[in-house]
Amino acid sequence: MTEWQKSGWRAKPRVQMPDYLDQAKLEAVEAQLSKYPPLVFAGEARKLKKELGAASRGEAFLLQGGDCAEAFDQFSANGIRDTFKVMLQMAMVLTFGAKVPVVKVGRMAGQFAKPRSAPTEVVDGVELPSYRGDIINDLAFTPEARIPDPAKMLQAYTQAAATLNLLRAFSTGGYADVHQVHQWTLGFTESEKAARYRDMANRISDTLDFMKAAGVDSDRSHTLQTVDFYTSHESLLLEYEEALTRQDSTSGKWLAGSGHMIWIGDRTRQPDGAHVEFARGVLNPVGLKCGPTTTAEDLKVLMSKLNPDNEAGKLTLIARFGAGKVSEHLPRLIKAVAEEGTNVTWVCDPMHGNTIKSSTGYKTRPFESVLREVREFFAVHNAEGTVPGGVHFEMTGQDVTECTGGVRAVSEENLSDRYHTACDPRLNASQSLELAFLVAEELTARREAQLAAKAG
Ligand code: PEP
Ligand code: CO
Repeated sequence: MTEWQKSGWRAKPRVQMPDYLDQAKLEAVEAQLSKYPPLVFAGEARKLKKELGAASRGEAFLLQGGDCAEAFDQFSANGIRDTFKVMLQMAMVLTFGAKVPVVKVGRMAGQFAKPRSAPTEVVDGVELPSYRGDIINDLAFTPEARIPDPAKMLQAYTQAAATLNLLRAFSTGGYADVHQVHQWTLGFTESEKAARYRDMANRISDTLDFMKAAGVDSDRSHTLQTVDFYTSHESLLLEYEEALTRQDSTSGKWLAGSGHMIWIGDRTRQPDGAHVEFARGVLNPVGLKCGPTTTAEDLKVLMSKLNPDNEAGKLTLIARFGAGKVSEHLPRLIKAVAEEGTNVTWVCDPMHGNTIKSSTGYKTRPFESVLREVREFFAVHNAEGTVPGGVHFEMTGQDVTECTGGVRAVSEENLSDRYHTACDPRLNASQSLELAFLVAEELTARREAQLAAKAG
């Protein structure tokens, strides 16, 4: 393989990227971005890689979630706080149930570019180029709004930097202190899951009180007062990614400075394409979406390119087959991994294979299908003797009505009430918590089965 260069992707076939009309403006933006500081540092990406390695062995569990697409006009401190808060609650449910550390990774601070299934969109007989995320063009349905504008990359960088700044403050400034476990209860007042969460929070408080009485000063424990929270996004807009790529002075390796983890989407994973070419050279942990059309042969080539040194935690395979299709596709890909002997972390994305159009015209996801795909993912790994290493999902801390179902039963008729996503339908806070309880049950069942096997 030829030596990697951060601009090497430019010589490869590209899909899902905009054709900018104003080349001079594009180059000026790229030049400016390449002078800006990276958003993350190599040591952080290495630490995340190590933690994902633990997840690949069942010694940790990845919780990766956030918006389908971050949007400029939905940028607010409260929005970031609420998503962060729900992630903390979910992590608490998982840690408490599964007794393993939870690796928290947001689809945040850089998740702006969107691959689309069609290049154009038709509304009332008018055809316009598709919306591709706020970093590329605008959601408004006018010809001007849909023209890709390179300057949007600068705004995306600014929003990502401000988001990450707030996340870092929440993570270490006292907000994420486990003693706050009760304060994180938001918006779930009436649901049965909220009662379960509160019950769990009481038990955690009791434990902290006990520790204090026994002379363990948990008030001053760094581990209990802070969390590690990482960022991730789809590495789609390669001009942006290249401009933020930096050489790590200690190792000489290259870091994608746009986020801790990047992933390759289901539509851009061509083994000889531009997106794989870019991702193969960075030291960050890399995710790869695997769908029904992923072949074993392609996966083998992709694994050798994306994890050439066979490092644990380097490559996360994000399975997104759709409920009812997991047992058809996951075993054949698990077999391909075993044949190559590659270290991978298996993660379930129960969102992207379950998108449908509701009778009322909204793009939605039945929550039942989301839960079912998670159960199927666990069942296959339990049967194959492999490790379910995490979940990847689209959610928000806001009380939206975008996915149908859940304990508070969003119906197809209710979808229009609070449908705010700029792209795919997200789980709301209550549905996210419900998902966490289901995953915790699956993890607990695995743990008990393993303990029983050891005892017997
Ligand atoms: C996404 O994660 O938002 C996405 C577009 O996923 P996929 O590439 O799996 O379809
Ligand atoms: Co999406």
